[in-house]
Amino acid sequence: MRTKAADLGFPPAFLWGASTSAYQVEGAAKEDGRGPSIWDTFCTLKGRVDHGDTGDVACDHYHRYRDDVRLMADLGVRAYRFSIAWPRLLPRGRGAVNEAGLAFYDRLIDSLLERGIEPWACLYHWDLPQALHDRGGWTSRDTAGWFADYAALCAKRYGDRVKHWGTINEPSVHSIFGYAFGWGAPSIADRTMHARAIHTLNLAHGGAVDALRTLVPGASIGGIHSHQPCRPERDDPACVEAAALFDELWNRAFPDPQILGAYPPRLAEAIEPYVQPGDMARICRPVDWFGVNHYAPMYAAPNTDMVWGCGFGAPPDDMPRSDVGWPLEPAAMRENLLTIHRRYRLPIVVTENGYGSKSEAGLEDTPRLDYLRANIASMAEALRDGVDVRGYFVWSLLDNFEWGGGYGSRFGIVHVDFQTLERTPKASARWYADFIRRG
Ligand code: FCB
Repeated sequence: MRTKAADLGFPPAFLWGASTSAYQVEGAAKEDGRGPSIWDTFCTLKGRVDHGDTGDVACDHYHRYRDDVRLMADLGVRAYRFSIAWPRLLPRGRGAVNEAGLAFYDRLIDSLLERGIEPWACLYHWDLPQALHDRGGWTSRDTAGWFADYAALCAKRYGDRVKHWGTINEPSVHSIFGYAFGWGAPSIADRTMHARAIHTLNLAHGGAVDALRTLVPGASIGGIHSHQPCRPERDDPACVEAAALFDELWNRAFPDPQILGAYPPRLAEAIEPYVQPGDMARICRPVDWFGVNHYAPMYAAPNTDMVWGCGFGAPPDDMPRSDVGWPLEPAAMRENLLTIHRRYRLPIVVTENGYGSKSEAGLEDTPRLDYLRANIASMAEALRDGVDVRGYFVWSLLDNFEWGGGYGSRFGIVHVDFQTLERTPKASARWYADFIRRG
């Protein structure tokens, strides 16, 4: 059925976009003065990324951005959410500015604007400059100050053309995987370090909001959060408690202080030693929208191997799953949007949503197409429930470097041949283009 956005209740101004992130698509990791990030380092650790893949070349978006912008224009995508690589602008994270790095995003932004595509820039998608990590990284309060300086640099350079800004992509996933589970850069599994990282990332967000607000006239700013319904694996008290803690770690550790001005109850005690007078006022700055990356409901269970005593549980046996094993339940989109709306009372932008496949599969990606269609329909139900959803960005424009999954996990609506770097729209891209075009 060829559903129309208008028939589903989406207003004409609803924004249909596509997302990527710097390390996952740019490549050119050692070019034009870019400094190393913690993900460059992580990729050199043996056995941490599937097949030993790295982001050295990725989709080569750094050189092929013009083709990718043309591709988006052909698909009718109205907005492009990308991230700026901090180590490209400031190879050591602070101090000397790399003009060649700054110039890349000038070119990207200008070519988007030439084609009428709205740039949505995210300041940080997990690629902390290695030099700052060597000075303590997110466990050191200083990093929040360096981040505010970096935000000011971006605001001054691009603020005349970029009005939509995201601060930090999924600080919860970045910090849980990087500092509690050790599954991502910088590969640490320590509760104290994790608690410190949470607080510094929150301070960094607040400082960046202030810099953007001061330096970009008419800026529209949001935090970008992974927020998913979080359910106990089993209905027993230990599991229910584990899910409540996991919910706070994953869903609330960042939005609660950033929007409501307080840490959630189960985490407050662990983080309190690092909170200084005035911190909450620095973190809780007015934002314009809540960016949610929605994928799937999560199931949690107690796990004594994990530093917080909880972790991922198993979804119910009869729950359908995607090719990468994530639960498939389109109604979770509506449930999630309602939860966020009721708790945070902000306009919502779905800044990521997509389907991962393991197989090279081909271009007829029916399961992805079905996933997108069903999630968009569920988002429409939330809209009808009165949730103020303003836009939707598919993850991702391109197959790309999927962190620990390397190039073996594909989320693109456009296929990338990682030998030739050729791009080919999949059925899901053709469907999305048609959906946008018909309005
Ligand atoms: C999100 C990340 C994004 C991508 C998708 C699949 O957690 O923000 O970079 O990896 O998952």
